[in-house]
Amino acid sequence: MSDRGSVAPTVALKSYTPTVVFGQSQSEKTSLQTPPLHLDKSPRKRKRSPAPAGTPSPVKRIVYGRFKESVGQPASPIAKPVFMRVKKEQRQIRGVKHVAFHHLPTPDFPAYIVTDEAFHVLLSKAGKGAQAEASFSKSFPLSMDKSPKRTVVKIARKPFTPQKKLLERLERHEGIDVPGASGALISSSNRLPSRFAVFQRSDGDLNHINYSDPRFEVSYGASPVPFITGQLISMAAGLEELHDAGLIHRDIKGPNALFNIGGLGKLTDTDLLMEELGAEKTHTVGTTPEYAAPYIWADVTKQRVMEGRRISSIGHQSKASDKFAFGAMIQTDVVTRVISGLSKIHHIDNPLDLRPVKVVEKQYGTLFTDEEMLQVDREHSGRVVYRWPNPLTKSPGYLWKYPTREDACAKTFSAIDKLAEHLPAKELAALKQLARLAYILQDPDQTKMMSTADLVSALQAIGNQF
Ligand SMILES: Nc1ncnc2c1ncn2[C@@H]1O[C@H](COP(=O)(O)OP(=O)(O)O)[C@@H](O)[C@H]1O
Ligand SMILES: [Mg+2]
Repeated sequence: MSDRGSVAPTVALKSYTPTVVFGQSQSEKTSLQTPPLHLDKSPRKRKRSPAPAGTPSPVKRIVYGRFKESVGQPASPIAKPVFMRVKKEQRQIRGVKHVAFHHLPTPDFPAYIVTDEAFHVLLSKAGKGAQAEASFSKSFPLSMDKSPKRTVVKIARKPFTPQKKLLERLERHEGIDVPGASGALISSSNRLPSRFAVFQRSDGDLNHINYSDPRFEVSYGASPVPFITGQLISMAAGLEELHDAGLIHRDIKGPNALFNIGGLGKLTDTDLLMEELGAEKTHTVGTTPEYAAPYIWADVTKQRVMEGRRISSIGHQSKASDKFAFGAMIQTDVVTRVISGLSKIHHIDNPLDLRPVKVVEKQYGTLFTDEEMLQVDREHSGRVVYRWPNPLTKSPGYLWKYPTREDACAKTFSAIDKLAEHLPAKELAALKQLARLAYILQDPDQTKMMSTADLVSALQAIGNQF
């Protein structure tokens, strides 16, 4: 189909008013308010056979205009050929949902993917975990009434369908980063097959907040402790939504918790989402050991179970272990980072060190015996977690011995005291309350765990002081 020959119904043209002005620059806004529609009504053009059904050409012309404006620089010389290709591919997969063409980046143009409804230009890396690579993207819907959006596209090996199905149970998704359009990728490279999903864009994860930014309030819209408490409240509310739907997240940690300046904090990476099983049931554990509650496993040896030559971990994950991880996240990715960020700008040396001690297997390929693992656990009164050997890097397995939560909390309080001259009293008090909440959540006795609604209330009580 040509984007020059066909004529769109007048009514559709008249009704076109760009609802959302995308992009930042004034020039973008101006160009959007006058959609580049110059319908050629010469007899020669009108004689052409009508375009096949599908997205009418003027829509594509509008989308092309937006696209060229938005990502045309410095890629403008090839913007047209890229767009032609997008159109061709969209014709090929018209009506085929859940499939997209994947184009790897070239020296002239970033990577992009083409679905039957939109195309997504992958502009820069947002983050990478063990399963997925996330890119800050610009998504161009092929539609009159939908404006381009800043999104995040994740590319992963596993399909996003199982988590999407579970997430359908939620009534609202305010504190959860939910996958939108998703499917399989057709790639020109001979990479392993992969999948994509489009998400709303957040500003970053908890490890990307710069607490040593002296203009924090300007950059983040509030001073450090009120800002992060606000974000934690909506993340906990997101967790409550999952728990109320009978689901557990299983991988709560800083890299899976997203912040939004002027918006809500969210939990992302619902890849391990599952229905909570009865307390007596065991299952394969999926988690990040550094954030895991000790009671997930019957004992430390169950963190590494051999099934033939495959290593796995068998235990029971629960709403309680999600909240334990939330507590570990408040300590590691919030309180400790706030303290070290602020200590840096105020030149306070060695503010807080809660790093665990590492006990390493002798070499790659030789595993600790069960007896050795139990011995380390007996000797150590804190939390012990096992990290499997890494076949890619050939690094051996190891055990982390964490400081006790009493120790961690006491050290955190004295590090907060050292900030007394530099932070308003209310923020100091709130930081201690967050540290205290982290301590309570990391109780090794799971029968003492608070409800998820109480976790939200506890955070709200801290936030209400501001
Ligand atoms: N919606 C989003 N907005 C901004 N950054 C994101 C978004 N989703 C993920 N990220 C970033 O990408 C990283 C990897 O994504 P994630 O889903 O956690 O992948 P994995 O399953 O591999 O851990 C995250 O740690 C975060 O830094
Ligand atoms: Mg992740």
